[in-house]
Amino acid sequence: MTHFAAATHLEVMSEEPNTTDTRERDAQVEEIARRCGVRAERGRRFAELTSLRVGGTIDWLLVPETEEQAASVVGALEDAGLAWRVLGAGSNVLADDREHRYVVVSMREVKGEAQFDGERVSVSAGFSLPRLCVESARHGLSGIEGLGGIPGTVGGALWMNAGAYGHEIGEVVESVRVARGGQVVVVPGVEVKWDYRHTSFKEGELLLGCTLRLKPDDPEKIRARMEEAKQRRFATQPHGARSAGCFFKNPPGSGLSTGKMIDEMGMKGERRGGAQVSPVHANFIVTEGQDASASDALALAEEIRERFRREHGVELEYEVELWGADAEFKEAGGTEEKDEGGRMKDEGRRGEGETE
Ligand code: EPU
Repeated sequence: MTHFAAATHLEVMSEEPNTTDTRERDAQVEEIARRCGVRAERGRRFAELTSLRVGGTIDWLLVPETEEQAASVVGALEDAGLAWRVLGAGSNVLADDREHRYVVVSMREVKGEAQFDGERVSVSAGFSLPRLCVESARHGLSGIEGLGGIPGTVGGALWMNAGAYGHEIGEVVESVRVARGGQVVVVPGVEVKWDYRHTSFKEGELLLGCTLRLKPDDPEKIRARMEEAKQRRFATQPHGARSAGCFFKNPPGSGLSTGKMIDEMGMKGERRGGAQVSPVHANFIVTEGQDASASDALALAEEIRERFRREHGVELEYEVELWGADAEFKEAGGTEEKDEGGRMKDEGRRGEGETE
């Protein structure tokens, strides 16, 4: 599984911005950050902020620390017509190597503490999913122990309905807190469509946190199940490597494993520059070395897709999110459906799809 990102509020940008526009925009971002009391950083790189450890520079990184701050900051960006994307643990994102000219809102510091109340737990989007699984087990609450080894944030897990070993987070969500018009709005879990690695949340919706309703069980039993899932994961997936979890979805409804099929195509260990098809699990692309780039990983992924198409007649859908560098704000409050299937948006291939 993955690693996550949530909302995107972008559109293809055809021309380089002129300096006056850039200066004006920078002043607007600075003012918004100041007004919302949010830290603003420049010069960060996706290579530092994503688990694949590749990707270019980030124009502006805004780092809210509370759900309210996150809601107000994206509300203000929308009002100002400024493009933004949200990043969680960066564990499901392949961002290209160029300069990314939009605002990245990092949810990593919107974590607070998990609040347990009977069978419920309320948690913010930047909270670590593995930590939530451990704390839930400690409280004798079952339902997410299969997700224990997924190295992402709660927000990312919600955004794409993260799942492993028979559990998906959507099954236990009572409500999700979403940013709308600068405010925190509570959406009941039953109003969300929770599909395989996909939800009905829309582009431009920022997920702030959630309340889960879990089932009481013996903490020792929960811990044992969590340990078993972790051991299975360690035995079958690369551990400690720079990866974004499974790169492609399994062909929907087929019961087939993309990893097994890539393995049978003989592609384990195949390399493009600093990217490699993991020798442990063929649906993982791992990166190695200082010189690894996003284009190495993308070239390898596209080669896998091409061969898969030829040999199986199936178009593999990306499970990682591909983030192109050029983007501008689409439409305030834009609620376009998330893309399915994965392409760099700035290459004019919108609608063909995206999101371990
Ligand atoms: N297999 C191979 N070779 C490989 C990989 C797998 O032969 O290189 C075989 C395995 O031995 C097993 C079968 O294929 O018999 C299925 O493998 P696995 O149990 O690893 O399941 P998967 O379908 O490849 C899915 C999810 C994983 C999740 C596991 C466990 C997707 C795309 N992948 O993998 O999620 O951890 O099940 O529930 O849905 C992710 O979302 O990023 C991710 C890794």
